Amino acid sequence: MPPRSPTQSDQQKITEPVGEVERFLAAFIDGRTLPVNLRDAIKYALLGGGKRLRPILTVRCCEAVGGQIENALAPAGAIELIHCFSLVHDDLPAMDDDDLRRGRPTLHKQTNEAMAILGGDAMMGLAFELLATGIEDVALSGRLTLELATATNDMIAGQVYDTLPQFPEGLSDMERLKTIHRHKTGALLRCACRMGAIAGGGTDDQIDSITRYAEAVGLMFQVVDDLLDVTQTTEHLGKTAGKDSIQGKLTYPELIGIDATRQEVAQLQTQAHEALSKLDHQANPLRELCDYMAVRSN
Ligand code: IPE
Ligand code: IPE
Ligand code: MG
Ligand code: MG
Ligand code: MG
Repeated sequence: MPPRSPTQSDQQKITEPVGEVERFLAAFIDGRTLPVNLRDAIKYALLGGGKRLRPILTVRCCEAVGGQIENALAPAGAIELIHCFSLVHDDLPAMDDDDLRRGRPTLHKQTNEAMAILGGDAMMGLAFELLATGIEDVALSGRLTLELATATNDMIAGQVYDTLPQFPEGLSDMERLKTIHRHKTGALLRCACRMGAIAGGGTDDQIDSITRYAEAVGLMFQVVDDLLDVTQTTEHLGKTAGKDSIQGKLTYPELIGIDATRQEVAQLQTQAHEALSKLDHQANPLRELCDYMAVRSN
């Protein structure tokens, strides 16, 4: 039986940590000395909308292993900073050349290309500064920094596979597609979950379960993104629909069609649930999040 779809009250619960994460991020940025135009650019890209799924995952994975939200705020803020940096650069003319993001002009349209490049760079630096300064336990801070650095490098490798493709010999189109998606999108989602479980003091077994969950939802998330690009409107998405085929991107619907793409989403959703089988009711929000991510429409 496929897992059920989330109800409205599930969705309210899912977004519960967002306010706290956003206040934490705003206070962190306001506490830094930055040129005013750079600060404005960062706040525009970081704090204006977005689903905040990565920080929600960090908080919920922390709680799933018995930790508190306070343990998760620094890594949750750091992963959202890296995600927003990746979006700003993804939208640049040299990459996907998009004018609309989160229902508003992209940062390079709102300001200019130099500010979008530099604002993205700054968000990456700030993410690591947040892990270095926001976590007292030096060993934990170092462990989380390594998680985030590795995932950031994997995301960038994924953007290279997506934008300037060059693959090892002999990979099928499906293997290429999975390589792109696991890197460009899966890596940060995996990191969001693992950092939460690590910051929450999870055991090796718990971290292993969370990692398997994260790998399934990480791939599923981009498969759904590919699907929404061909099934939703620009207005609903808040970013330009139909862009992937215009730019000749390798995507699930392009390679296997819409019906098979939906089946793939269902399989990954089931895999994610199975990965959590050893975790108790404290992992229920992760089950609900997975179901939401499978059926989301933007
Ligand atoms: C968009 O991510 C980029 C992808 C990795 C597909 P999200 O759909 O999570 O974007 P926001 O943060 O909600 O705007
Ligand atoms: C985004 O993939 C991956 C990263 C930003 C790292 P897409 O290019 O498909 O994301 P959207 O559709 O522009 O949000
Ligand atoms: Mg892209
Ligand atoms: Mg894009
Ligand atoms: Mg996309």
